Amino acid sequence: MAGGSATPTTDALEDLVRTALTQVMDPEIRRPVTELGMVRSVDVSVDPAAAAGGAHVVVGIDLTVAGCPMKSTLVKDVTAAAQTVAGVGKVDVDLGVMSAEQRSELRTMLRGGVGEPEIPFAKPDSLTKVYAIASGKGGVGKSSVTANLAVALAADGLNVGVVDADIYGFSIPRMLGVDRAPTRVDNMLLPPVAHGVKVVSIGMFVPQGQPVIWRGPMLHRALQQFLADVYWGDLDVLLLDLPPGTGDIAISVAQLLPSSEIVVVTTPQVAAAEVAERAGSIATQTQQGVLGVVENMSWLEQPDGSRLELFGSGGGAKVAENLSKATGGTVELLGQVPLDVTLREAGDAGTPVVLTNPSSPAAVALRQVATHLATRSRGLAGRRLGLSPV
Ligand SMILES: Nc1ncnc2c1ncn2[C@@H]1O[C@H](COP(=O)(O)OP(=O)(O)OP(=O)(O)O)[C@@H](O)[C@H]1O
Ligand SMILES: [Mg+2]
Repeated sequence: MAGGSATPTTDALEDLVRTALTQVMDPEIRRPVTELGMVRSVDVSVDPAAAAGGAHVVVGIDLTVAGCPMKSTLVKDVTAAAQTVAGVGKVDVDLGVMSAEQRSELRTMLRGGVGEPEIPFAKPDSLTKVYAIASGKGGVGKSSVTANLAVALAADGLNVGVVDADIYGFSIPRMLGVDRAPTRVDNMLLPPVAHGVKVVSIGMFVPQGQPVIWRGPMLHRALQQFLADVYWGDLDVLLLDLPPGTGDIAISVAQLLPSSEIVVVTTPQVAAAEVAERAGSIATQTQQGVLGVVENMSWLEQPDGSRLELFGSGGGAKVAENLSKATGGTVELLGQVPLDVTLREAGDAGTPVVLTNPSSPAAVALRQVATHLATRSRGLAGRRLGLSPV
């Protein structure tokens, strides 16, 4: 505004000029300059001596970059738009350049609020294998499977990261014996390392004892931040421990990491298997691959060596078969993990059973699954492009 003594007339003119500017498109982005935050100021002054010629308007425009090739088009369009307002005489355009911060805000807006920085695993040339561990029901052993696979892979010499994406029921830090938060260096988070595995969990960002009541968009941002702000280094494998079911996080994972593949965990129980199938078949909508199924709690070995099938049998094989049909691919039953007291105890104590009791049948089964994940070749050809092109 011109000084502190603006008259209603210049105020009204300023409003009218701003409205007129909503019609000016940025020549490259093809969105109104007003929406892009490019209009820095509109100053209207009326020189009484020259009032008959109309008001003098100076429009401050910030270009996205200094050498913007479309500068002259923009000046012409802004001038023309301002001159459509009755009472406006001379129009000047005062060009400036956006600050780095404004540019970053603009990029965030253009990318639908997803924002920066980038997720390294989502880049087309990333060689990191990304597996999302999913289940239909809760309590089937997803987190136990994730923790054991991670340390087994690390013990085999691979660089491994784990994201505990189960925002409401995070348990990975305890299972891996991590009790400290990531170290912050500028904008970057250095994840704690446990048993050779880099671990990040929402649990590390929530003050103890406080409930987490985040909804879809916030979950999406939290996951985005885990994936982008954490310094992972060169990972061979990234595992994501998903919350049970087919909720917001599963969809965010599909969007943020389109090349991730799903590993479904189920129990042998038919009712659990049916729900597990739903978790797997979400992949047909999100165009993710389903790698395979891990059946957990398959049986309890008796002192006489016989197997007690506490939860029935056949659930894992059934899910694999039905998901193969649903996805039109081959979804394998990757392993059957028996019930094992030492698995539970090891998880509670923070050192997974594949390390504390590697020859137990449960650890052997989990290590086999890990070997399968590690030795799969992963070419760049035939990668899915996923849902969101932005
Ligand atoms: N094979 C097994 N033998 C014995 N105990 C097991 C086995 N698998 C999992 N458990 C125990 O069952 C409980 C649930 O396992 P876990 O937390 O891994 O499941 P989850 O699917 O991640 O659950 P949630 O849905 O709550 O995230 C844990 O106490 C774990 O130690
Ligand atoms: Mg869990």
